[in-house]
Amino acid sequence: MERLQKVIAAYGYTSRRKAEDLIKKQKVMVNGKIVTELGSKVSEHDVISIDGVIINKDVKHEYYMLNKPRSVISSVTDESGRITVVDLVDTEARIYPIGRLDYDTTGLILLTNDGDFANAMMHPRMEIEKTYIAKLDKVLSKEEILAIKKGITVDKRIVEVRRFKVKKRDLDKNTDIVEITIVEGRNHIIKKLFKELGVNVLKLSRIAYGFLDVKNLKSGEYRKLTIKEIKKLYALAKK
Ligand code: URA
Repeated sequence: MERLQKVIAAYGYTSRRKAEDLIKKQKVMVNGKIVTELGSKVSEHDVISIDGVIINKDVKHEYYMLNKPRSVISSVTDESGRITVVDLVDTEARIYPIGRLDYDTTGLILLTNDGDFANAMMHPRMEIEKTYIAKLDKVLSKEEILAIKKGITVDKRIVEVRRFKVKKRDLDKNTDIVEITIVEGRNHIIKKLFKELGVNVLKLSRIAYGFLDVKNLKSGEYRKLTIKEIKKLYALAKK
């Protein structure tokens, strides 16, 4: 017997957290009865349905990396009809993005229909390095660079910066292009970090996620992760 939300995630329907939301919203039925208890347990023989649709237990897991263009939203659907990261991947599987990049951020984002994998990648203890290139509306001072490397506090938590360097400095335009590697996944975290110093991020791109980098994918292109890469990411998550 396994917890219902875990089973829903394991079948690739959605992440465990979203499955919990669905249960709370009374959208989940087991053997024809609405379940409201988050702790409910089910066996492999139970028939689970969500919004009246029975979960197909033969779902194959799929894993993709996408080079997200600007003006694409990191969600499955969008109420105002904007293009989503899921729209860019040609598959019948119910995939969703792992974490999010802002609407105006470009770069590497993973998508899957494997709830366990998504959970492992997003776990707060998870220390996968994410590297970003950011164009700033200001040339940073030595003191500011030092402060970033030491760790700026955002929303009462220090952002651990693993690597930081100024890649290009334009004194005429008063802009810096920097490369920054962090290990966490809070929303808007890079923009918030610079905001603490009164600096705006003009352009942001994620160029690497762990050992994966975006180099061989043009904007809007994607590819499946290899089994080796999936195993390696899992191994990083379990460290
Ligand atoms: N940090 C941000 O501010 N935005 C992103 O899209 C990703 C990280």
